[in-house]
Amino acid sequence: MITMTVIAIDGPAASGKSTIGRMLAEALGYLFLDTGFMYRAVTLAALQQGVDILDETAVTTLARSLDIDVQAITGHGDGRHYTALLNGKDVTWELRTPQVDANVSQVSGYLGVRQEMVRRQRAFGRRGHVVMVGRDIGTVVMTDAPLKLYVTASPEERAQRRWRDRQTQGHQADYETILADVIRRDKFDSSREHSPMRPAADAVVIDTTGRPPQVIVDEILAQVSVINAR
Ligand code: DC
Repeated sequence: MITMTVIAIDGPAASGKSTIGRMLAEALGYLFLDTGFMYRAVTLAALQQGVDILDETAVTTLARSLDIDVQAITGHGDGRHYTALLNGKDVTWELRTPQVDANVSQVSGYLGVRQEMVRRQRAFGRRGHVVMVGRDIGTVVMTDAPLKLYVTASPEERAQRRWRDRQTQGHQADYETILADVIRRDKFDSSREHSPMRPAADAVVIDTTGRPPQVIVDEILAQVSVINAR
């Protein structure tokens, strides 16, 4: 019998992978780990400390020195799904600013930064019972995960979702700019030299365009039952 301990979910920005991952984690009683928050935390630290984002060596040294952690939410009531800590400070919302968005692809393209974050992510994975969401979880971080999903949606639908998120968070948002950014980031993330974003050979590809998350989650839970019964 195979017991599901890690579910690996990859896919582009705003594909619905985090929503689906969170719902799965809740249904299964697993930890939800959104690995993108780690690359965002390194980016935020570089911006805050005035480290040149284009200086790979300096950003990598910085990444190794940071204390990055995640905590389950405890009654904040502000719509967060977890609390992100950078050197002990709550930076959950600072990780979502347009400034971090604009610089995080550059930072997550650095090999040394990736190696450090992957090492930390595997430590989470070893604890088991985790739904891990990112771009390279099935291909690099947790290659032996018994279930790998690659979640995607059309760029237009993903831009719509980002636009709505921005409005809710009270940021100025222009749909066309967001769409251009979604397309730019997809290209950057999937064509970068180190761990480019792509489905693992054994991943199940799920297109969420126009489909309610609950329907998709129910389908995945059915697959989890089949795998667990093997
Ligand atoms: O999922 P997100 O938008 O928070 O991700 C932020 C950035 O980090 C994005 O440019 C992709 C990158 N990322 C990555 O390279 N590998 C991961 N496992 C997760 C995110």
